[in-house]
Amino acid sequence: MRATGSICALVALANVASCVGTNTTLPKRPLLASGIVDLGIASNAYEKAKAFVGKLTNAQKVKIINGHSFTAGNISWAGYAGKDGIDGVNNQAYVSGFSTAAAVGMTWNPDLAEAHYLALGEEFYGTGYNLINGPVQSPNGRVAWSGRLPESISPEPYLSGIMEAKTVTGFNSAGVVTVGRHFAVDEQETNRKVGGYSSNVDEKTLMELYLWPFADSVKSGMMGVMCSLNGVNGQVACENDKLLNDYLKTKLGFPGLVLPDVAAQQSSYGSANAGLDYGSSQYWSETIILGGIANGTLTQARLDDMATRVVIGWYYANLDNGKQPSTISGSEYRNVRGNHSATIKQVAREAIVLLKNNNDGTRNGLPIGLPIRKPRAIGVFGAHAGPVMAGPNQVFSVTGSPAQIYPGHLAGITGSGEDSFPYVVDPHVALLSRIIADDTSVLWIFNNTYTSPYSIGIPGQGTGSGSNASISVGSSGGGGGAGGIPSFPGGFGTGGTPSFETYAASSDVCLVFINAWSGEGADRTELSNPGQDAMVNVVADNCNNTIVVANVAGPRILDAWIEHPNITAVLYSALLGQDSGNAIVDVLYGDVNPSGKLTYTIAKNATDYIPICETLQCNFTEGVYIDYRYFDKSNTSVRYPFGHGLSYTSFAYSKDVTVTITNQTALNSKYPTGSLGLGGDADMFDEVLIVNTSVLNSGARDGAEVVQLYVGFPAEAQQPVQILRGFSKVQVKEGQTANISFSIRRRDISYWDTSAEKWAVASGIYTFSVGSSSRDIKSTTQLHI
Ligand SMILES: *[C@@H]1O[C@H](CO)[C@@H](O)[C@H](O)[C@H]1NC(C)=O
Ligand SMILES: *[C@@H]1O[C@H](CO)[C@@H](O)[C@H](O)[C@H]1NC(C)=O
Ligand SMILES: *[C@@H]1O[C@H](CO)[C@@H](O)[C@H](O)[C@H]1NC(C)=O
Ligand SMILES: *[C@@H]1O[C@H](CO)[C@@H](O)[C@H](O)[C@H]1NC(C)=O
Ligand SMILES: *[C@@H]1O[C@H](CO)[C@@H](O)[C@H](O)[C@H]1NC(C)=O
Ligand SMILES: *[C@@H]1O[C@H](CO)[C@@H](O)[C@H](O)[C@H]1NC(C)=O
Ligand SMILES: *[C@@H]1O[C@H](CO)[C@@H](O)[C@H](O)[C@H]1NC(C)=O
Ligand SMILES: *[C@@H]1O[C@H](CO)[C@@H](O)[C@H](O)[C@H]1NC(C)=O
Ligand SMILES: *[C@@H]1O[C@H](CO)[C@@H](O)[C@H](O)[C@H]1NC(C)=O
Ligand SMILES: *[C@@H]1O[C@H](CO)[C@@H](O)[C@H](O)[C@H]1NC(C)=O
Ligand SMILES: *[C@@H]1O[C@H](CO)[C@@H](O)[C@H](O)[C@H]1NC(C)=O
Ligand SMILES: *[C@@H]1O[C@H](CO)[C@@H](O)[C@H](O)[C@H]1NC(C)=O
Repeated sequence: MRATGSICALVALANVASCVGTNTTLPKRPLLASGIVDLGIASNAYEKAKAFVGKLTNAQKVKIINGHSFTAGNISWAGYAGKDGIDGVNNQAYVSGFSTAAAVGMTWNPDLAEAHYLALGEEFYGTGYNLINGPVQSPNGRVAWSGRLPESISPEPYLSGIMEAKTVTGFNSAGVVTVGRHFAVDEQETNRKVGGYSSNVDEKTLMELYLWPFADSVKSGMMGVMCSLNGVNGQVACENDKLLNDYLKTKLGFPGLVLPDVAAQQSSYGSANAGLDYGSSQYWSETIILGGIANGTLTQARLDDMATRVVIGWYYANLDNGKQPSTISGSEYRNVRGNHSATIKQVAREAIVLLKNNNDGTRNGLPIGLPIRKPRAIGVFGAHAGPVMAGPNQVFSVTGSPAQIYPGHLAGITGSGEDSFPYVVDPHVALLSRIIADDTSVLWIFNNTYTSPYSIGIPGQGTGSGSNASISVGSSGGGGGAGGIPSFPGGFGTGGTPSFETYAASSDVCLVFINAWSGEGADRTELSNPGQDAMVNVVADNCNNTIVVANVAGPRILDAWIEHPNITAVLYSALLGQDSGNAIVDVLYGDVNPSGKLTYTIAKNATDYIPICETLQCNFTEGVYIDYRYFDKSNTSVRYPFGHGLSYTSFAYSKDVTVTITNQTALNSKYPTGSLGLGGDADMFDEVLIVNTSVLNSGARDGAEVVQLYVGFPAEAQQPVQILRGFSKVQVKEGQTANISFSIRRRDISYWDTSAEKWAVASGIYTFSVGSSSRDIKSTTQLHI
């Protein structure tokens, strides 16, 4: 089952020196007891775990590794109560409906991410769960259609790494063990099963891209990893010695337990020797494990290591303090929600990206674009604007094809990332209080393809029936007057025949809501929806102040209408959780100044993206070039670049960017010199440079900007032309200037040197570019290293 020469032929294509699985010599088993990893923040937990395991019989150790509890005399092990739920405790009543991780990513606010996952962790802890199958670091986002993208942060590894480190801290602070998944390179749902697709990746790509965010999480105290269903370089991930023992437990210095995705364990000794620590009693009965030790198929040291790796997280999360409430049933009432709604709403507000805003001009004498200012009539269009007919949500099959769009306001996904919503605030309900306060009138159609089935008019005097009712737009009827507001449909006030055309023509502001849905079990089959696109166009054809709001599972192509001159503004985000409508309306009305940024590229055409792999051998021949790196490499023009997002104020970037070496000693060595710690070589995480610049809020209101730093490497590093290596979200008051300082770690200027099997700092000119998106670079400086 080891990788064969033929799979590694791909490596020749990718022009790198080796690939996972070529080396048929088993790496030395990275036993915690061997001391190869300096455990740092986990040292105390390790000492406690070692002492505990030291007191156990082999039979008790077997119970620990196959997920059973026991009590014997004064020694007991309660076992973990684990659960899914990166967006909210899965299959549990009376818990909060958090936003998707993809939305947390769009905030670009690590501290907010920490608060968000602390709140979610508190709900796990409070309901009696102490191990969460999350965060989700794969899929990263190689494939735009990937069904589980809403559960992870971004295809950009640096951004994901920073955010996921904070995710881990948040969960750990709540007393919950985190299990990063899916390890590794689990990039799509198509053919996702044991014996399904194999992700064939060269080592440089693995280290620099797919394992990068895992390294941050390990550094931050992640004590679990879930190996995935897919293969990696021809071998099932959970039975993949090179992947688990070498990459995870050695190169990434991971000290915790590896557990399998559902049904991913395939063997007894194969899995245990390959690095799985927590598995099924079907494979790991006492007889099997002890028999294996007796005849040398397994070692005593490895069993001790497995048990220690399982319990270290328990001590690390302080679960030994005995304070955790008991585990409750899925339907029992226990109020664990605290004030989490405030954090959920704040994430939703900061996750909304203003893609476009033409607020120069008027319609009916009123300003167009955003924010909305006291319109007389608002038209609200699309199923996504209002509640789903039966809600707040439903459990859908994880193996069937998810619907592409949702027939109501979409705030979460399906599968193991599905929320159990206590409520969902849809945009229409959130709009109503503004509409009432402003003396606005509202017309709505909560359907993307609506045709009125009713007749209008008074018998004998009517002007028509059904969709053929005569309509009179813009010129006649009540309500005309100075501003030139059009009549309501057919001159019947709000009683006229509803249609997109008449309602759009009758409104000062036309809000069109669209969504895109996905989840575990299937990939999306479309990146845009014809029905929604037709609705947007018909509204825009009749309303020169059309504002589109999109909440989408993953990338959504906008080109069917984005250049329509009547579309004045577009708000775009991931799925925002229970308070979604409130957050959207806060931004629409300007109570909140948008500050989200895209965490991926919106292409002009779906065919511009890397396609789903439809075969079982998925050769990642693009290497590290995914998302913006891919588009930059081919110089493809895109609709909205990675990192893009506007504000209601404006920011003027300083031309002045300086780079200062803060540790020359460190830079004197090409390779790391420190010990192996959590996350990899310890000195990889030490600062070596700082980059300074400043940003002025040159507009007329306070706002926040995500200032981004992109680094260009010397040729030796074989890197994309630029990669994100810093970001800073700063709140800046109107007229004020914020100083920005990016701390650059050794890791941020290193590349993976495959022949040396080490991270290396390249020699030559590095370029440091500061910008407001990956394609809006404001100023640049260089440094020779
Ligand atoms: C992947 O690479 C292998 C080895 O080079 C090759 O045999 C196989 O045809 C490739 N698969 C695809 C789908 O290109
Ligand atoms: C194979 O891996 C072992 C252990 O990591 C290492 O010592 C050895 O040098 C490797 N052999 C080759 C040919 O790369
Ligand atoms: C547990 O029991 C053993 C022997 O039965 C004893 O040596 C040990 O001190 C006890 N430990 C505690 C914490 O009570
Ligand atoms: C070792 O013992 C186990 C359990 O009895 C058995 O399944 C396995 O085949 C044995 N392996 C060897 C190499 O004897
Ligand atoms: C929630 O409550 C906690 C303590 O009660 C407080 O520290 C925290 O600031 C509150 N968070 C929000 C967002 O209000
Ligand atoms: C929008 O259309 C109205 C007439 O319906 C016109 O008065 C106004 O100038 C237009 N505004 C823009 C910005 O095109
Ligand atoms: C929209 O209305 C059509 C019929 O006019 C109906 O078939 C469809 O299910 C509705 N869609 C939604 C999302 O309500
Ligand atoms: C609209 O007019 C068309 C063509 O005259 C006719 O076929 C259709 O039945 C009418 N629809 C309604 C709802 O009256
Ligand atoms: C824009 O909207 C106005 C009505 O406000 C309409 O007259 C015009 O045809 C629309 N423009 C386009 C390009 O559809
Ligand atoms: C997208 O690209 C495909 C293939 O190149 C092409 O057939 C299609 O027309 C393009 N779509 C748009 C909207 O440009
Ligand atoms: C990239 O494309 C743009 C036009 O889209 C062109 O101006 C530029 O020269 C191209 N750059 C490279 C490196 O090919
Ligand atoms: C500078 O880097 C060296 C080598 O990594 C390290 O030993 C030293 O502690 C660092 N100095 C400071 C001030 O961080």
